[in-house]
Amino acid sequence: MCGIVGIVRKRSGVAEDLVKSLKKLEYRGYDSAGIAVMSDGKIEVVKGVGTIDSVVGGIEIRDGPVGIGHTRWATHGGVSPENAHPHTSCHGEVAVVHNGTLDDFEDMRRELITKGHELRSETDTEVVAHLIEENLKSGDGPLSAFVNTIRKLKGSYAIVSMISGERALFLARNKSPLVIGLGEDGNYCASDVAALLHLTNRFIFMEDGEIALLTPSSVEIWKLEGGKMEKVDRRAEEVDWSPQLLDKGSFEHFMLKEIHEQPHILKKIAESIDYYTRFSERLDSLLRSGSLTIVAAGTSYHAGLIGKYLLSKLAGIRSEVIIASEFPEWSSHLREGDVVLAISQSGETADVLEAVRIAKSRGSKVVSIVNVPGSTLTRMSDESVFIQAGPEVGVAATKTFSAQVAVLYVISSLISGRSGISDELAGVSELLRNSMGDLEGFSKEMSDLLKDKEHVFFLGRGINYPTALEGALKLKEISYIHAEGYPAGEYKHGPLALIEEGTPAVVMVPVNEELRKKAVYNIMEVRSRGAFTITIQPKGVEVPTDASLEVDVEDELLSPLIYTVPLQLIAYYTAVSLGRNPDKPRNLAKSVTVE
Ligand code: F6R
Repeated sequence: MCGIVGIVRKRSGVAEDLVKSLKKLEYRGYDSAGIAVMSDGKIEVVKGVGTIDSVVGGIEIRDGPVGIGHTRWATHGGVSPENAHPHTSCHGEVAVVHNGTLDDFEDMRRELITKGHELRSETDTEVVAHLIEENLKSGDGPLSAFVNTIRKLKGSYAIVSMISGERALFLARNKSPLVIGLGEDGNYCASDVAALLHLTNRFIFMEDGEIALLTPSSVEIWKLEGGKMEKVDRRAEEVDWSPQLLDKGSFEHFMLKEIHEQPHILKKIAESIDYYTRFSERLDSLLRSGSLTIVAAGTSYHAGLIGKYLLSKLAGIRSEVIIASEFPEWSSHLREGDVVLAISQSGETADVLEAVRIAKSRGSKVVSIVNVPGSTLTRMSDESVFIQAGPEVGVAATKTFSAQVAVLYVISSLISGRSGISDELAGVSELLRNSMGDLEGFSKEMSDLLKDKEHVFFLGRGINYPTALEGALKLKEISYIHAEGYPAGEYKHGPLALIEEGTPAVVMVPVNEELRKKAVYNIMEVRSRGAFTITIQPKGVEVPTDASLEVDVEDELLSPLIYTVPLQLIAYYTAVSLGRNPDKPRNLAKSVTVE
């Protein structure tokens, strides 16, 4: 994973902006960080273990016109100051930051050591700095030294390098994201657009196998193919995300802010039905020639399960959902003409991208539902649609889950020819806006109860079975309390044995009366074994339970959009009351760009 950034300017002064960008990239990893700045032709590096603020805090940095930075999620080599990026060559004339993992770097490392290079870290990245240095020594100019190094690399990488005396940045991308930002006083690059929004909203999205040279006044891109370098001419695109979206405002955490943004996002989707029509028509027409497979990871996988339900219920479309990391093993049946629908917030999840590569190699069509503009998934897809949720900073997905579900609802409805979709979604948005205070109050109360528990179960039926999975994922990832989601009816086939006196079970009560009767039966099953049940239920229905939140929900198919919000808030307040930082859960990064 890791986040990288680079700035090259006409004037001196890049350190502050590098740090600002790295803070925006911390969702990609934050176990160590560093920057390298070139001043008077010499490269100076500040790096260490911890977040970028803790690493650069109190240090006087000699500023200059060129710099690179990195925030790390360790893969090769433990978390140590030596393994933090940027990495430099023996004489400090080359500095490199890297996101990705290099294959066969051990051989290159041994070869470099034989040639007298002194490698100071255990990382794969460091070899890149030494290889560039070696090429410079053998007489290559700066660009050739970089290109000839990249030619030797295998694996995934977004690499940015700077070379002493050069007012330039050298970029390479293969299977890890890298965007170029265009500014008035210079040019920039980073792992994603959000990191550069304080500097520009004009971007060029690099593709796999490309290298680029940035100077303060020019951007040149080439495709590296075998021994050849083909010039690439690509237009810049404007991204309409505002930098304010990356501000917590008055909220204590991004996660809470993002939960509160949900009514607004649902309204936006409700007002964009026309935008989703083209995608729905294209999907509908593609499905005439093959089957539909949905692929996604984590929270997006849960949205995918809800999508399967909606497509089946509303449009009579049969689909299967495969977890992205399992896709290579479970997709042998895919053929030409089949359709793969990839769902991803980031559009950069390595498992999802790999699934898409496999699908394409079999001749299947790929359509995608994505949040981040310009992300790799959008560029690999035959057709993409955006969920319009804006940048999500909290590592735990919240608003993007609701937006994915809402978009899947819109698409399924459009394919089925239903009308009134916009009013329905606007109604949910209004309901959530008006009940946020109550949801907050209930969730705080419940978190008080859950914070001391070791296990929590989430049960749902029908469309809210995936909601239960999502509720459990939210709680475990940010509070570190063990949580499991189950279909309520499946629980008696084994997990019921785990219920003890006081074990909490959070149950999503169905709107549909028949389904509700079954759920009530499941509630009685767990209560009679001592469970403490917390129900989230439609207003005015009788349910035997220990604590309940009544919400004004009338349509089963829209209920995940409403039930999910208290689940997110319960997870949030439980994490906060345990002193965890919900925006940066341990061991996790938002964009998982390794398989
Ligand atoms: C959980 C979470 C992750 C992501 C998963 C997929 O809160 O955020 O489970 O949902 O890593 O990420 P995307 O949607 O970017 O492909």
